[in-house]
Amino acid sequence: MKDKHVKSDMPSVTISNTELIKDASLKVEAVTDNIIRIHTIPNTPDYNDTSFALEDPLEVKGKFNISQYNSTITASTNTITLKIKTTLEIDIYDKDGYLLCSDCEPANDELDEYTKAEIEQVKQEGHMPDTFDDNIKYKVTKRIFGDEAFYGLGDKTGFLNKRGYEYIMWNSDNPEPHVENATFRALYKSIPFFIVHRSKGTYGIFLDNTYKSHFDLGFSDAGSYSFSVTDGELNYYFIYGESIKEVIKSYTSLTGRSPLPQLWTLGYHQSRWSYMSAKEVLELVDNFENYDIPCDAIHLDIDYMDKFKVFTNDKERFPSLKELSDSLNNHGIKLVTIIDPGVKAEDGYNIYDEGIKYNHFARSKDGTVYHNVVWPGDAVFPNFTSSNTREWWGNNIKYLTDNNISGIWNDMNEPASFKGALPDDVVFAGDDKERLHKEIHNVYGHLMAKATYEGLKKNSQKRPFVITRACYSGSQKYTTAWTGDNQSIWTHLKLAIPQLLNLGLSGMPFAGVDIGGFGSNTTPELLSRWIEACCFSPLFRNHSAKLTHRQEPWAFDETTLNIYRKYVKLHYKFIPYLYDLCYEESLTGLPILRPLIMEYEDDKNVINCNDEYLVGSSILVAPITDQGATVRSVYLPKGVWVDYNSGKRINGNRYILYKAPVDVCPIFIKGGSILPVYPDIPNLAPENTRKLIVEFYPSDDTDNKTNESCYYMHYQDNGTDFKYQAEEYNLYKFSFSSNRPNGLKAELTQNGYKNKYTNISAVIK
Ligand code: GLC
Repeated sequence: MKDKHVKSDMPSVTISNTELIKDASLKVEAVTDNIIRIHTIPNTPDYNDTSFALEDPLEVKGKFNISQYNSTITASTNTITLKIKTTLEIDIYDKDGYLLCSDCEPANDELDEYTKAEIEQVKQEGHMPDTFDDNIKYKVTKRIFGDEAFYGLGDKTGFLNKRGYEYIMWNSDNPEPHVENATFRALYKSIPFFIVHRSKGTYGIFLDNTYKSHFDLGFSDAGSYSFSVTDGELNYYFIYGESIKEVIKSYTSLTGRSPLPQLWTLGYHQSRWSYMSAKEVLELVDNFENYDIPCDAIHLDIDYMDKFKVFTNDKERFPSLKELSDSLNNHGIKLVTIIDPGVKAEDGYNIYDEGIKYNHFARSKDGTVYHNVVWPGDAVFPNFTSSNTREWWGNNIKYLTDNNISGIWNDMNEPASFKGALPDDVVFAGDDKERLHKEIHNVYGHLMAKATYEGLKKNSQKRPFVITRACYSGSQKYTTAWTGDNQSIWTHLKLAIPQLLNLGLSGMPFAGVDIGGFGSNTTPELLSRWIEACCFSPLFRNHSAKLTHRQEPWAFDETTLNIYRKYVKLHYKFIPYLYDLCYEESLTGLPILRPLIMEYEDDKNVINCNDEYLVGSSILVAPITDQGATVRSVYLPKGVWVDYNSGKRINGNRYILYKAPVDVCPIFIKGGSILPVYPDIPNLAPENTRKLIVEFYPSDDTDNKTNESCYYMHYQDNGTDFKYQAEEYNLYKFSFSSNRPNGLKAELTQNGYKNKYTNISAVIK
């Protein structure tokens, strides 16, 4: 959290003394030509302009040309023009004078038509009105012209296109099946960023305010959308872009990008609440080897701890975490442990005692340490807003790294609490000032992730692997994310796709869902379709709840096991490509899994495409997500697509019917693609990643000859530490041409990493 205005001597528009906003002025600044910040500044001398999402001070460097005619102020950058009226309504035009975005009057609330008695009557049976009745401090309403589609907003329920939905940003742990009704307007994550895609003109809105906020995207009024905050300042960025990609690049230039992960983190992870002993974990390893299923990580859920006390281990069931992780490491498998924020309030427990002594816990209004109940029972909550507390937490991670634990899974960090919600006025004393829970709630998981990232980095010197359930804009710099407690139901398999795509569009590229479903019992068919649907998911983890049927790959029958193996192996095959996409993402913020609209913006058929996705731009996946279905319609955008299952070339720009029995996931490769792949490997241990195969998928396979030529840049490094930042990496340029014997030419354009591939072979598909 930094004071933002370190570099801001550029012209800006400030409107003060207006009746329209109380005790504050409105400031409009051009952060760049395409990014406009619109925010209120309260008339209080101690106001500190801070952000939890932005790591570095905001540099305001856009050149605004400002003029005034009558009462309208015109402020132009090289790409857009703002017209700011005395009503404080702002119209934004592109450089051709096309109106992109326009403020308007809020719509009337339809509920006003009902009497209080009618509303109470309906509530008696448990129906809740879809209203957001928290006090609103600032609300911005903008016109829907008609052709808008809305994307982003993190992990929210519902379809890909958020038009017609409303959502609340308030990190929430609700174990009921997540559905698109009023109860689930909020989920675990608050990423207050969305993209507005229009047939002409695309832009993003990032509302950087951590208090509870509300987004209504044409839900209460088809002609407008709005966003509002309950407290704090109005602080939003209008992000103009020529394309969705440009908007994401700009958004992540503000909030940051996911750094390169360790290579093994892209492998398969097996989890369960909980593996109850070291013996059980070792049996898993045997099973993975015996059943020939690649695996890179096993996760220990809360039962590895002594009475759910963080940074401890149960001495009977897990006598030595180090011995366990070392034996796993000998098989090329890593151990990841869960860590929850709630610290058991128990005298004599070192973490509690130290936290009390050094004032690391959040406090009630009366100054006493605040208690609630989570897994360990009576618990207290670290105050992650304080850099001292984050450092203390990070130092405690040494306990895990000393035991050779390779990653940390942060859970319950909304923060979840079993004895009612934390009151709004719980105090978190930050480095600069005290803040209340109502301001900190949505960044609690974000700050815990930051503490974890820094602690892991310091104690392991490796690229930290963190998973989080709760997060805020910018958390992508510290952590990957999973979508929390889904259920083993078909609707949740369907939901996985828009959730992962919208997380990616919201700057959170390394994400995953619990494969097979967490709550309730999965079935062989559902598990098979789930591993197929998520076979390119960057976070690739099977996890299930206590009291549910086991859902390890071998838990069912031979057929399910074979399907599972097939798709885990497919995932491993394409890991070099996924790693390249991680590299691209680290430079640009562009997601790994992409909705079709991101690559085919002019194609109206893909605006609402929820059930297909692209991996980068070269692979299209159209999984089956309906029980019993063995055929589905697939939309292929323009160009030639190679059916991965049959090798057939199919012309796109049309729907096809595709037969997909339970062991087949419809996958298509864009004609003309080059894809780096691994041979069949058991896991990502360094000795298994020395060989690379370069596959070329020509658009035309006539006689297996092609005149098509194309190239692909491939990234390689040690997949572990930060040496790549000192240029210890290789960049290969692979190109194909029909007049070479095997078609392939591999050139090294950056040659900083010594352990190059021992073998690169080529295949024309
Ligand atoms: C929460 C998590 C889940 C975990 C469980 C026990 O429900 O979301 O993944 O298994 O807690 O720790």
